[in-house]
Amino acid sequence: MENMENAGDEISSLRKMIAEYERLYRVENAPAISDAEYDRLLRRLRDLEDAHPEFYSADSPTQKVGDDASSGFEKRAHLSKMLSLDNAFSFEDLKEFDERLRKAIGSSKSLKYVVEPKIDGAGISAVYENGRLSRLLTRGNGSVGDDITRNASVIKNLPFELKGDNIPEILEVRGEAFMANSEFDKFRARQEAEFAKSEQAQFEGQEDEKSPKKLRLYANPRNLAAGTLKLLDKEILAERSLLANFYSIGKIEGAEILFQSGLAKFLKSLGLPSVNWYAIAFGIGEAYQKICELDKERGTFDFNTDGAVVKLDDMSLYSLAGWTSKFPRWATAWKYKPARAKVRIYDITLQVGRTGAITPVAELEDAQKEGERLPVLLSGTNVSRATLHNFDEIARKDIRIGDVAEIEKAGEIIPDVVRILPECRKENSESYAAPKYCPKCGSSLVRNAGEAVLRCINPECPEQMRRRIVHFASRSCMDIDGLGDAVVSQLASLGILKNFADIYSLNADDLYKIKNFKQKSAENLLLAIQDSKKRDLWRLIFGLGIPYVGERAAKDFALAFKSLDSFMNADMKALSDISGVGERIIFSVLQFFKSGENLRIINRLRESGLNFKAEEASQSAVFGGKIFVLTGTLSSMGRSDAKRLIESYGGRVGSGVSKSTDFLISASESSSKLDRARELGVKILSEDEFLAMLKEAEVSAGFGVKSDEKPKIAKKENSFLQNSSGQMSLFDF
Ligand code: IVH
Repeated sequence: MENMENAGDEISSLRKMIAEYERLYRVENAPAISDAEYDRLLRRLRDLEDAHPEFYSADSPTQKVGDDASSGFEKRAHLSKMLSLDNAFSFEDLKEFDERLRKAIGSSKSLKYVVEPKIDGAGISAVYENGRLSRLLTRGNGSVGDDITRNASVIKNLPFELKGDNIPEILEVRGEAFMANSEFDKFRARQEAEFAKSEQAQFEGQEDEKSPKKLRLYANPRNLAAGTLKLLDKEILAERSLLANFYSIGKIEGAEILFQSGLAKFLKSLGLPSVNWYAIAFGIGEAYQKICELDKERGTFDFNTDGAVVKLDDMSLYSLAGWTSKFPRWATAWKYKPARAKVRIYDITLQVGRTGAITPVAELEDAQKEGERLPVLLSGTNVSRATLHNFDEIARKDIRIGDVAEIEKAGEIIPDVVRILPECRKENSESYAAPKYCPKCGSSLVRNAGEAVLRCINPECPEQMRRRIVHFASRSCMDIDGLGDAVVSQLASLGILKNFADIYSLNADDLYKIKNFKQKSAENLLLAIQDSKKRDLWRLIFGLGIPYVGERAAKDFALAFKSLDSFMNADMKALSDISGVGERIIFSVLQFFKSGENLRIINRLRESGLNFKAEEASQSAVFGGKIFVLTGTLSSMGRSDAKRLIESYGGRVGSGVSKSTDFLISASESSSKLDRARELGVKILSEDEFLAMLKEAEVSAGFGVKSDEKPKIAKKENSFLQNSSGQMSLFDF
């Protein structure tokens, strides 16, 4: 048994680490580690907790389902709890599950099981009342989910009405929403082509409002499906297509279903999509055989599976079998081993992050074709690089340049190096020595106590600065369209951008120095920079790049302190009053605001007129939650700009006209939305009336508009408005 103190420390650090990985997976839909690595961490935590029950906590990730809650969606309670499944990684684990279950239900005989694919998608719960879809929820925290009913139509095989003679009064049905692999491939191909086109367009000055840079590259179909369910933008949603499969019942009234083996047929009779592959097994040994059979077949499915689910067939025994706070005891999930491939590590390169962290990256080639520098094909994607995380990891696995290694991928794009094959090692190979100096600026690297990461702490390291500027301008921070990696790199190497405050001093002459940059690109970029000054406070806080302060913490700080000045002046006590903010973040924030250089940059941002106040203190209250719906094509701006403007003044944009709609902005002579608005007496605004309303909103938000300057309508592709002097302006900043 581990030493008590060490075990306690390890448990607490594992809990923190796992909680953060869960958040990245569930909320950001951007996993940082492979599923297999995540499972290993969770197992380690569970083993430690089992050995040290004195450290039990109901808050531990081993006891809770996690949470996918996002802002922008109403929270609703599930009719019955939406649980997760326990995992089995070996036949031993399966036997233990079977024994526990037989004990719980008092059976000495072999149990009848159903084995089915474990779909790697996003969990959903649909409620039908008298055959009509009344709501669609995400899992949320298992008790309360996000209401995503308004996005239900993106799931193409989800019926809004059930069919057949056996329709239950209430049916709460659980399943998985996923993107078919064929659809995902098309989506990525489209996205990659659009990215390439946009790079080109950006340099040629033709960028339009639908720049695909606003899109984000998703690592795998699961993340894309989960992200799609939570889309707020109907236009983007309209281009996506998901499917669902249902596999379990939450609550049912007015009909009865007794066996899991009959569930798929029952659901199909109602018109609900359900799993096509399932097998019946007598006893756990046979269940294992079926799991192996499924493994051979699952590669032919058009969706990703990360395992098999073994379920007790007789549903009348479920209550006897019981539940833990996290799983039912009548089912378990078998996790298949992720796909692996053999590679040669022909080099280890170093990346410098925006906080100075040095990340070693393995440059890979197919081990069978040594020296040809060809990528290896793994689960359908070509792989040529893998992150090695940090130098401890390299030392622990004794990874050397020239080694042959096994890499593993469980649905993600970035694979992990799992192990080195010592039998393939060349005789003259040498241990890899961690670098002493920053590969970009040459200054000495340091290692903070308790951290595995080596850092460059030179505040003037050009690579760190470049990355910080890219981060500041990125979509998740100040969202400056057109100021991506390529443009920042050129401006930085010309010495025009030294830090992100310099962004606000850029002028057209500076931008013309960028290779092939045309007038239109320059105008658009200057507009985007002006526009970014009004961003919410949390975006600015996140954009500052304070080490360890991610999007969540930035939002918490903005909410708690309401202004950048109060945040900057906050002491240890005020910072630690915010729940979820740990010591590491607090220390980092205090350090950050002690630096004279950081304070100088912030002052320059202030002088440039950036918004330093939380949303509610500035413009957000002007439209006070009013719901706008658009119909027809506006001549002055694209839909996404109209939406952004409405939302920036605290309004909301709905998709269909209903009783709760406040305004229909109509740019068309006739439409069904217009008819419906007339029917319901919803106020209809012409495009000019809408523009006048925006102008008024801007005045009340205190953004200084000269009253005699009437905004002229610009050509659509400008996406913003032009003032009378012909300069690009969004109502004159
Ligand atoms: S049954 C009480 N069957 O995997 C839980 N779940 O890792 C009943 N999943 O929470 C779930 N395919 O979201 C079940 N065929 C299947 C599944 C499946 C995917 C998901 C589900 C579950 C998670 C556990």
